[in-house]
Amino acid sequence: MFKKSSPASVATAMAHPNIAFIKYWGNRDDELRLPANGSISMNLEGLTTRTTVRFDPKLKNDTLILNKKLQGGNALQRVSAFMDIVRQKANLKLFAEIVTENNFPAGSGLASSAAAFAALSLAATKAAGLNLSRQELSALARRGSGSACRSIPAGFVEWLPGSEDEDSYAISIAPPNHWELVDCIAVVETDHKSVGSTEGHRLAATSPIQAARVEDAPRRLDICRRAILQKDFDTLAQIVELDSNLMHAVMMTSSPPLFYWNPLSIDLMKRVQSWRNEGLPVCYTLDAGPNVHILCLNEALSELKFRLHQIPAIEQILICRPGGPATLLE
Ligand code: PMV
Repeated sequence: MFKKSSPASVATAMAHPNIAFIKYWGNRDDELRLPANGSISMNLEGLTTRTTVRFDPKLKNDTLILNKKLQGGNALQRVSAFMDIVRQKANLKLFAEIVTENNFPAGSGLASSAAAFAALSLAATKAAGLNLSRQELSALARRGSGSACRSIPAGFVEWLPGSEDEDSYAISIAPPNHWELVDCIAVVETDHKSVGSTEGHRLAATSPIQAARVEDAPRRLDICRRAILQKDFDTLAQIVELDSNLMHAVMMTSSPPLFYWNPLSIDLMKRVQSWRNEGLPVCYTLDAGPNVHILCLNEALSELKFRLHQIPAIEQILICRPGGPATLLE
């Protein structure tokens, strides 16, 4: 299944983070990160993680350098556990030096694990002499961070939940140039989130409404997929906001409860809804943090930016168009 190509060496890859339109929250299998429901996302062009992996017989452990700083603790442990999966697939005993950089502002509070594990999957398997198909790469990236499987294919992407390790991967449903959607990210807080998503997924099933959210997911996925393919912004806007609210309702009703919004997040959600009522093609979605992703049609971008610049509490605004796939760099 996994084809060996060249001898172990060094490789560099890059990947973009993605924003989920239909969210992944909760696993059927935490160890394998098999999701409770399917999800749909868009890769974020402009935000990039670039990672080099070098296997070295002289190393006694894996080493991880993130944005020029040597890492230890949980970050290293998580990456090293992932490298064990790669070593097992390649039947390789060597440790590796992993050097990774994000081009997005440090501490911008943006989830970086999707881009990180997508770039790492591609660089590590190449450096280990493996030649994985896109599907195999996506399934592997999922083991590092569920949403990372969606940063392997290009553009608009659907994660097919599957039932086991091999059939839980993401595919592209439309290329980046299919639709001129823009994600305008209003950064409202740059602190690290209190409870990370790995822990959050474990709590999802404690919410009495998670089962209803999961049961209804195929319907929301169908509506979202069709809205993307037909470039129907109004339908997309309704389903994206509903799905974000449902996920946050599950978060807020789990034990212990998780509240990721802050007052500015709520203020922005309300403004976005009233702007849409005025006719501006915009909608919001939030991940496991307070930053508000405002999706808009390209034609509305300058008006949206103008309105957001009037709100001084917003720390930063990042503009992302649909992004390409994870790519090997020479
Ligand atoms: O891949 P993880 O474990 O960081 O989970 C991602 C969870 C959300 O960002 C909140 C939703 C999603 O589908 O991306």
